[in-house]
Amino acid sequence: MGSIKLLLLVIAITASSLNAGAEAFALSPHFYGHSCPRALDIVRSVVARAVDREPRMAASLLRLHFHDCFVKGCDASLLLDSNGPIVSEKGSKANKNSARGFEVIDEIKAALERECPGTVSCADILALAARDSTVLAGGPDWEVALGRRDSLGASLSGSNNNIPAPNNTLQTIITKFKLQGLDIVDLVALSGSHTIGLSRCTSFRQRLYDQTGHGEADASLEKGYSWQLRSRCPPSGGDDNLFPLDLVSPARFDNSYYKNVVAGKGLLNSDQVLFTRSPETMALVRLYADDSGLFFDHFAKSMIKMGNISPLTGPNGEIRKNCRKIN
Ligand code: HEM
Ligand SMILES: *[C@@H]1O[C@H](CO)[C@@H](O)[C@H](O)[C@H]1NC(C)=O
Repeated sequence: MGSIKLLLLVIAITASSLNAGAEAFALSPHFYGHSCPRALDIVRSVVARAVDREPRMAASLLRLHFHDCFVKGCDASLLLDSNGPIVSEKGSKANKNSARGFEVIDEIKAALERECPGTVSCADILALAARDSTVLAGGPDWEVALGRRDSLGASLSGSNNNIPAPNNTLQTIITKFKLQGLDIVDLVALSGSHTIGLSRCTSFRQRLYDQTGHGEADASLEKGYSWQLRSRCPPSGGDDNLFPLDLVSPARFDNSYYKNVVAGKGLLNSDQVLFTRSPETMALVRLYADDSGLFFDHFAKSMIKMGNISPLTGPNGEIRKNCRKIN
């Protein structure tokens, strides 16, 4: 064998073994196939019971995965309570008095610890619960890649800075998605999550009133809808009054969110700007409003992409015994 050929062979073997090394730590749908074969069934059954008790829980669990992944990756940092040096992300602008469903995650974790102790990560529980919630609410299904490990810390500042606010400009929201490796299709498709769940008055009040407390601050709001919102969300007080993000089918995962947005009935400013501030996002909103199959397809793909944000794998992180604290 010529020395050039030998060199090439060595390079090829080295490259493929490096690649195999990377693959050993890649997420895989079968990650718990041997170590905890019933894991997926257990997660699904606890989520199903919780959603049965309270349909909104599907929305709340879906949102937890998002709020986890946007801060240091999908590593369950969101689930840690404050303790010693750890300052919980639960106190951030986006999460305080808002993020919910933590007891359901505890319930899932407890069931998994009984079945196969120290095996299934809290980060994977969040990814599975988000998928199961979507399916239970009538949305698309997808295969969840697994093998994420849990963080040893939290980032309150990350939670404050990375998770978009409802009054952010479209440009700011696009930038915050881009920082996570998510593009405009991901942004518009994932915003379709707002086809289920509820928002507090405090998250959309700013749109309803001008500085003097009456008049129309946001002209993109459909008039009748605006009056409906004002009756639930006064100029002051009632901060925690709840309103469905999708007034047409609040508990059904469908494409009515996009139809609402086209009709000027997006609840959050961040919903409405998708239609009013850029031709590119507007075209996607129209596309999904007209074709729920396409929305479901893109949503599933974007959820997989979001679930792949900077996971801890291999020797990094740990498998928490209790999702609220490090071991
Ligand atoms: C695009 C930027 C986004 C902004 C500005 C945003 C903002 C918000 C706000 C303000 C609420 C209401 C919170 C409250 O008042 O308590 C909410 C609820 C919700 N968000 Fe988003 N969100 C965004 C993207 C997403 C994404 C990507 C997902 C999931 C993949 C998601 C899932 C949800 C769900 C399901 C709810 C309802 C939660 C419940 O009822 O408990 N959101 N969002
Ligand atoms: C957005 O809302 C927050 C919280 O209500 C408020 O403190 C902030 O001033 C608002 N930002 C803008 C640009 O209006």
